[in-house]
Amino acid sequence: MCGIVGYVGKKDGVDILLDGLSSLEYRGYDSAGIMTLNNTRGNNELEGISICKTKGRVDNLAKNAKQMGIVGNVGIGHTRWATHGEPSDVNSHPHLDSTNTIGVVHNGIIENYLDLKDSLLKKGYHFLSQTDTEVIPNLIKDYCNQTGDFVDATIKATAELKGSYALAVVDKDNPDEMIVTKKDSPLVIGEGEGEFFIASDIPALLKHTNKVYILEDNEFAKITPDNIVFFDEAKKRIEKKYKEIDWSAEAAQKGGYEDFMLKEIFEQPTAIRKTIGNRLDKDNLIAELGITPEYIKSIEKIYIVACGTAMNAGLSGRKIIEKLLKIPTEVDIASEFRYREPLITEKTLVITISQSGETADTLAALRLAKKSNAKTLTITNTIGSTISREADFVMYTQAGPEIAVASTKAYNTQLVAMYCLAIAFAKALNLDYNDLDKELESISNKIEIALQKVDNIKDIAKQMYNAHDMFFLGRGNDFPVAQEGSLKLKEISYIHSEAYAAGELKHGPIALIEKDTFVVCIVTDNTLLDKSLSNIQEVKTRGAKVVLITDQKVDKKYYDYLIEVPQCSSIISPMLTVVPAQLLAYYIAKDKELDVDKPRNLAKSVTVE
Ligand code: AGP
Repeated sequence: MCGIVGYVGKKDGVDILLDGLSSLEYRGYDSAGIMTLNNTRGNNELEGISICKTKGRVDNLAKNAKQMGIVGNVGIGHTRWATHGEPSDVNSHPHLDSTNTIGVVHNGIIENYLDLKDSLLKKGYHFLSQTDTEVIPNLIKDYCNQTGDFVDATIKATAELKGSYALAVVDKDNPDEMIVTKKDSPLVIGEGEGEFFIASDIPALLKHTNKVYILEDNEFAKITPDNIVFFDEAKKRIEKKYKEIDWSAEAAQKGGYEDFMLKEIFEQPTAIRKTIGNRLDKDNLIAELGITPEYIKSIEKIYIVACGTAMNAGLSGRKIIEKLLKIPTEVDIASEFRYREPLITEKTLVITISQSGETADTLAALRLAKKSNAKTLTITNTIGSTISREADFVMYTQAGPEIAVASTKAYNTQLVAMYCLAIAFAKALNLDYNDLDKELESISNKIEIALQKVDNIKDIAKQMYNAHDMFFLGRGNDFPVAQEGSLKLKEISYIHSEAYAAGELKHGPIALIEKDTFVVCIVTDNTLLDKSLSNIQEVKTRGAKVVLITDQKVDKKYYDYLIEVPQCSSIISPMLTVVPAQLLAYYIAKDKELDVDKPRNLAKSVTVE
């Protein structure tokens, strides 16, 4: 969680820092701050350092920074999702050491900060905040006093840190340089002409450059306006080449839409087409992954492990894998999987799914799988992310940058990636795949048709936005969509909602249905149609108002509101039926006048446990 930025150049970096923080705000938005060195102007009480920190959003910070007139050629910035210490001005980053010399922004958690703080207090350092981060500048300062060298001090200090961190560090005594390093939290560096940009993710850099260095764990970079040097903990030089990123800067803008979430919902057909690409031709996907048919034949069990929406995508993935490949497949929540001693052997394939490629629990699950000698395959959207670097096989989704905290296009590209994978494995094993490849090729057109029904969904949302509770029901292939629809609604509208397998409702939760309770039912599987309709009848009889999302012909008596989608094979229908569920959540949240892109308490990238 938290977003960090940095600028090292010859021009004033304040607008660049503020702009970078705005695009990283999805990672946290409790409080924000910036600090500049070198040719600074602003608050001069710290001599040579200008700092502005504030509780609340980056907009607040920008106003305050402008009022103070802060400038500077070297600077760091931070947007926070509080872990240690409430959101407040004083707990906001950047943090300084007791002598106001070393400044730090940090993304991650320092697990041993209390021990470190204790020993620093004994040495006479003092602390202003309740954060774990404040030990870092003090520790670096302490080593600076011992070694007289900023780089050595940073290396020695980070060697004492337990936990996760991405750090950008500046030193008033070395005002035109910055040191950055990371462990288990992401950090990328963009190269411009006589300037460098630091950020927690690639989209935040795209306005300035597409030449991006991806820092690995325990690597350091010393950056000055004209030079960057990479080295390891032993100060040994590392040769690193930048990657040219082909995402456009526009992809990370709203492009005329009111919110990123709406834009991203509408981008789904394109994102899906791009993710399929030519992967279904011949054995392209198997070749891309570097997997052999012999290896696929040897797989005895598959685990799909992920969190939140990505886990919901995994639930649909399991269905197609078991249907086409007949390999027993379990789906698990990463935070559970990592501690439950799962039965992994070298014949197990562990598939992790993660938009960010940085989710702490998913990463831990992947590492556990590797330690147990299983092969790991990851489906991720983020090139160079930690999970993508550590997995044995990587399949990139092509969603482009997803900025809204609530995942929409990433989810749908994760689904299509799972479907492509299952079909490719089936082809490699000469198994039947029921022409699902052709079905997949046409799914984007069907989603485009579903998106045209947006006005109907807007009208239905107007009837629903005052609700306190809702239910989402589905059977078979429709159940994971019910789970995803319910999660989306909770995340952005703050309406309590539960998803149930439709047949399970009468085993308890039906007690909660009362007159006018909204129940969203997803029905695509005609082999289960009668059973689904009976379940709908059960809730209608108890006064529920039914919103039906379906590709089937259903009698009017079963629903109060109907959202039709084009006919589609049930196994891949989640890609289609989820779209109205996303739109429903979106318009309900809009009717409640909520910030859909940045829902309360959430951060997009959950890099802490
Ligand atoms: C989705 O709307 C959520 N924001 C969340 O559940 C998310 O999918 C989850 O945190 C996993 O993130 P990842 O895909 O980046 O690993």
